[in-house]
Amino acid sequence: MNIFIAGGTGAIGRVLVPLLVDAGHKVVALTRSAERASLLDRMGATPVVGDVYDEVRLARWVAQAGAEVVIHQLTAFGTKDGDPYAETIRVRIDGTRSLVSAARAAGVRRFIAQSISFMCSPHGSGLTDEETPLHLDAPTAVRGLAQAVASLERQALEADGMAGTVLRYGWFYGPGTSYDPEGSIPMAIRNGTMPIVGEGAGTYSFINLRDAAAATIKVLAHEASGIYNIVDDSPVRLSEWLPFAAKLLGAPTPAHMDEALARQKLGDMRVYYMNEQRGASNAKAKREFGWQPAFPSWRTGFEALYSGR
Ligand SMILES: NC(=O)c1ccc[n+]([C@@H]2O[C@H](COP(=O)([O-])OP(=O)(O)OC[C@H]3O[C@@H](n4cnc5c(N)ncnc54)[C@H](OP(=O)(O)O)[C@@H]3O)[C@@H](O)[C@H]2O)c1
Repeated sequence: MNIFIAGGTGAIGRVLVPLLVDAGHKVVALTRSAERASLLDRMGATPVVGDVYDEVRLARWVAQAGAEVVIHQLTAFGTKDGDPYAETIRVRIDGTRSLVSAARAAGVRRFIAQSISFMCSPHGSGLTDEETPLHLDAPTAVRGLAQAVASLERQALEADGMAGTVLRYGWFYGPGTSYDPEGSIPMAIRNGTMPIVGEGAGTYSFINLRDAAAATIKVLAHEASGIYNIVDDSPVRLSEWLPFAAKLLGAPTPAHMDEALARQKLGDMRVYYMNEQRGASNAKAKREFGWQPAFPSWRTGFEALYSGR
């Protein structure tokens, strides 16, 4: 298949592009940087250098690629004007609009977008599934991201003339992610600046990058449409995984922080993640397109990542 991917140089993109190429697809990939263009080239993709917000050129590149499928793996964390979420919100709303419009103009037949499983409503009990509403009644800091995720999902699923697939990934871990041994989370654990907030009841569904990328290969083979959670089999509370990771990293035992203090010091977003979020079920992806994680538990994944086991 001819595939156009945006975000092919990101943490998941760097795993996904070689898998697509190995599966026999012809891949054209967007990057803003000439340096990362050579990385794409080495991975077997044809790079195009430009910005997703450059709508006119983007439409031309997608058409020139003869794309049958567009894959959206764009994210953009990193603080801008004091707001750590502004760029990722923009790329999910405006970046998606730009990509969907380019795909429609080029007659693309499937649009696959990266979403996140951990923006679902924490109200209710047990694991979330693909019917669980997004957390749109959250405090302001969380609501902005939830609304952006809702916009991305709506645009991907409702695009005229195209089948839409939304992959709601759990928390990525692996090289180049925040959980990379040199990434921001292990760094905070080592520095003792990542506490267990409240009861540490936030339930994380993790996903190894390779398992996340493998889901797209399955989606393409099975022509699967709709929303799918792509998470491992072992949702786990912060209070359990954080001390386990600290031990593997040879870091101090994590401290506890009262929830009210954490709201002041860390903000509503972190309190939501650390003490409120629910884990997600992967039953639908397993049932409908036979996806199975090679790392069913974050425990073995973390051991491999942090102690080379
Ligand atoms: N499910 C999850 O846990 C989850 C989800 C998302 C992100 N994260 C994590 O958050 C961390 C940082 O994420 P990140 O945002 O820095 O992601 P990242 O892994 O660096 O990927 C961002 C991708 O989006 C592309 N991109 C962004 N803005 C673009 C634009 N305007 N035009 C074209 N391409 C654009 C980048 O391309 P170029 O830079 O090459 O142009 C890059 O390929 C990573 O550790 C990641 O694991 C986790």
